[in-house]
Amino acid sequence: MALSRAQTNHGESLISSTFASRYVRAALPRFKIPEQSIPKEAAYQIINDELMLDGNPRLNLASFVTTWMEPECDKLIQNSINKNYVDMDEYPVTTELQNRCVNMIAHLFNAPIGDDETAVGVGTVGSSEAIMLAGLAFKRKWQNKMKAAGKPFDKPNIVTGANVQVCWEKFARYFEVELKEVKLREGYYVMDPEKAVELVDENTICVAAILGSTLNGEFEDVKMLNDLLVAKNAETGWDTPIHVDAASGGFIAPFIYPELEWDFRLPLVKSINVSGHKYGLVYAGVGWVVWRTKDDLPDELIFHINYLGADQPTFTLNFSKGSSQIIAQYYQLIRLGFEGYKDIMQNCRDNATVLREGIDKMGYFDIASKDSGVPLVAFSLKDSSRYTVFEVVESLRRFGWIVPAYTMPADAEHIAVMRVVIREDFSRGLAERLITDLNKVMGEMDTHAKKHVAAEPPVAKKTVHEIEKEVATYWRRLVDRKKSSLVC
Ligand SMILES: Cc1ncc(COP(=O)(O)O)c(C=O)c1O
Repeated sequence: MALSRAQTNHGESLISSTFASRYVRAALPRFKIPEQSIPKEAAYQIINDELMLDGNPRLNLASFVTTWMEPECDKLIQNSINKNYVDMDEYPVTTELQNRCVNMIAHLFNAPIGDDETAVGVGTVGSSEAIMLAGLAFKRKWQNKMKAAGKPFDKPNIVTGANVQVCWEKFARYFEVELKEVKLREGYYVMDPEKAVELVDENTICVAAILGSTLNGEFEDVKMLNDLLVAKNAETGWDTPIHVDAASGGFIAPFIYPELEWDFRLPLVKSINVSGHKYGLVYAGVGWVVWRTKDDLPDELIFHINYLGADQPTFTLNFSKGSSQIIAQYYQLIRLGFEGYKDIMQNCRDNATVLREGIDKMGYFDIASKDSGVPLVAFSLKDSSRYTVFEVVESLRRFGWIVPAYTMPADAEHIAVMRVVIREDFSRGLAERLITDLNKVMGEMDTHAKKHVAAEPPVAKKTVHEIEKEVATYWRRLVDRKKSSLVC
């Protein structure tokens, strides 16, 4: 979200459109609602023209979020675009589809559900909302436990790696929980389970592990975390639980790494979130959170309303929302089935391998991602004394590629990487094309750097502060050009 600020520059307060001038001649105010209405064709044309300056979503290699679905699913989405999900009594079938999705996902994550039981979970707008809900459940459970024991309950904390996505920082700040982060180090970009367990104390509401780090796609070792925490709990009597942020990995691991134990097979894993709109293969706007059992979701967090019809339990941050994404998720689950998801994830992994090998072969880069994990390639420059990754990705833009570059969090801030996420719609051909274009860019960079060196004395290695400044300037310039490419 960009927070809107009042525009003081008078010169920029109007938008006009030559192309729409056959319908409308007057320029439109940018920040005030216009006095008069305009023809629908003009409104369409003006907005459509302005949106042409956005990047092409299919070439947006920064994002994990789905950019292609089958036309049949597009049709279902369009048909349900006017349905408010929250009107459950009026749209009982949509509610039923969400319940089926929750159960399918809970089973996929090996939740211990009895034959006559249903899973405990809810659809959300994404993993961020799912994480807020899971975090609130942990906080409330911990508070209840501390109250019952007559102990102070005003200083909850949560343990994560410094590589967590910003939604965890939001959870901590919005809901007043101290975030205790395990620092990273060069070459190790995920949470070290041993260090995480060391940070756990009596006020820890949970340890959050990531299945598919945003920064390099790596799966954290949830099994080792579970085992270490079981031992610590036995020693201290604290009973600290685990949440798994499987935003990306939740729809990857069950299909292509079935042996990997990261989910409800591990006794301390009490809740898991996953983004339906990432490898769940649905357009932006759907996530899921599932709890191990109903005892892991405190009853007092669930609201019951009846003014839309029958009793309706709700546990979400928002009230109204669209139904389309839930319906689209159900479409993907029944359309693809286990084998269909497996094929797609396998194919993404194969394409990531082709890309990784191609990039590695160029000789310019160190690969910061792993062979297993989320299918992506994160890579840094072996030598960033002559040019930086920010210049490389800027040059790649000329070819249409949108690739993000960023510095790693503490204590690996001096490492700056680029990241290419492989989604279902990123074909082998595109991977090969990207390798060719990156090769061209590197050749140009070298030529340019040589000329630069000949003309000027050598430049000293950049400090962390300089790199950060460079990142900020880089993004600001991109945003100014109305092209967005964020690490999300
Ligand atoms: C590990 C992780 N957690 C949470 C999120 C937030 O997910 P969402 O965009 O679905 O809110 C992301 C987004 O990239 C992520 O990578």
